Amino acid sequence: MPKRPEELRSHRWFGAEGMRAANHRSRMLQLGLGHEEFQGRPVIGIVNTWSDLMHCHAHFRERAQDVKRGVWAAGGVPVEIPAMALREVFQKPSTMLYRNFLAMETEEIARSLPLDGLVLMGGCDKTGPALIMGAISMGLPAIYVPAGPMLSGHWRGRKLGSGSDVWKYHAELRAGTITQQAWKEMESGLSRSAGTCMTAGTASTMALAAEAMGLTLPGAASIPAVDSAHPRMAAAAGRRIVAMVWEDLTLARLLDQRSLDNAVAATMAFGGSTNAIPHLIAIARRAGIAMDLDRFDAISRRVPLIANLRPNGSTHLMEDFFYAGGSRGFLATLAPHLALDARTVNGTLGAQLEGAEVFDRDVIRPLDNPIFPEGGVAVLRGSLAPDGAVIKHSAASPGLLVHTGPALVFEDYNDLDARLDDPALPVTPETVLVLREAGPVGGPGFPEWGMLPLPKKILALGVRDMVRVSDARMSGTSYGTCVLHVAPEAALGGPLALVRDGDMIALDVPKRRLDLLVDEAVLAARRAAWAPRKAVQQRGWTGLYQRHVRQADAGCDLDFLERGAPSPEPEIH
Ligand code: FES
Repeated sequence: MPKRPEELRSHRWFGAEGMRAANHRSRMLQLGLGHEEFQGRPVIGIVNTWSDLMHCHAHFRERAQDVKRGVWAAGGVPVEIPAMALREVFQKPSTMLYRNFLAMETEEIARSLPLDGLVLMGGCDKTGPALIMGAISMGLPAIYVPAGPMLSGHWRGRKLGSGSDVWKYHAELRAGTITQQAWKEMESGLSRSAGTCMTAGTASTMALAAEAMGLTLPGAASIPAVDSAHPRMAAAAGRRIVAMVWEDLTLARLLDQRSLDNAVAATMAFGGSTNAIPHLIAIARRAGIAMDLDRFDAISRRVPLIANLRPNGSTHLMEDFFYAGGSRGFLATLAPHLALDARTVNGTLGAQLEGAEVFDRDVIRPLDNPIFPEGGVAVLRGSLAPDGAVIKHSAASPGLLVHTGPALVFEDYNDLDARLDDPALPVTPETVLVLREAGPVGGPGFPEWGMLPLPKKILALGVRDMVRVSDARMSGTSYGTCVLHVAPEAALGGPLALVRDGDMIALDVPKRRLDLLVDEAVLAARRAAWAPRKAVQQRGWTGLYQRHVRQADAGCDLDFLERGAPSPEPEIH
């Protein structure tokens, strides 16, 4: 039974009698809208994370117009509302510090304004999860419009992948195998259009996870930002959200355990970013759905990795993925591992995948010819990570997945920067590089420092990977034998804080273990002598964040935003 116009949330602002309602209506008239254009129609908030300094969303001003076209066509009233444009690369110390800020902003924008539904415009890594978290907490119908990947990079006849090839060729530059001139030239070929990183990084992963979760229109996750299919998808999302308001299809009615499990399975089969783990745990917790590291690992063990993209597989990129059949072809291939009856913005996942095809089986592999027999990420536990750690083993060196070696500890990133290339650094290819003070509290904001650069001394030997352990995250475009998200983090006195140079660290990915091989009595003495290196900040967002953020295994949301009864609707006086 569809809603009646007087049941719209915006009716409380515009439909009532009295001085306040007249004032609200007069302000809509001030915007140039006639009574007949807004009264009794769903008001759709287009939450747009555009900014002049937001390279990945450079097309969003234009794209918001496409969404508006769809909303008008379906009888709604589109209103574009800017929200914090969290951009990777520029935002320091880490965009992750502000993910919960944007989530809170999205929720409060929606709650305080006369809105009936939301179109969430995001894409660059943290924006999608943040918008979705905020929309879940607010409880309005919402649809996600992902920014879409940028075009493939090109340089000297080779394809270039965002992030992945920056790390690769920077290591070659430091090793002296390419020139400064070549390195400089490469800059121009890396980022060729608007859109998100086009490797299987965090943005691509989270767009695919959102589609698998049912929050986008079919196929939306993989459409390149500058393809004409993208504005058509944006307009269709505008039309669909108006219908969702009349159907009262809120995220609470749409999301359930099946949706979240589908998102995890898609992430694992995509070889997606390790960043998906805290994001999906945080999203699930907002929705009151069970999700933890063990569930990730269980799903990862049963789902093969079938997306042959950088940084896991060959040189294929998201543009190739789109031409090969895109997110629909990928999810249809994965169908035996998905709950096809899970709801989506458009019906069910099964219905969304009907007729999907794959046109290049080297890019989207069949289930019986995967590029890796299980999902891309493994969850580790052990004496060095009692609350868990993760590794993207699909992008690690097979020969290092079982490895024991002596630790070389960097106290924080400044220490790493200062000493890494010291010719006297006591390091061999067997050493385990350890970085601490890079977790949610210590960073602060859980920066992407976990793919520690290798010391020059090691690069000169021709070695390009070592075991690295930290409480940091790493970019979804990164690779190597990097153990990440160690919890509890060092800044809270977790075992990582107690490691000393020369201690033996044992990594065993098949057994899912990460252990510090030091006697408990020795560790107890070190623990007793331990004190935090830095005080948490007292003022501003960073202070609030450091005092309330959850650890990596719990999704890094703020404890007071995670769940609980929804905040009350505002009084309209
Ligand atoms: Fe925006 Fe990678 S920098 S998605």
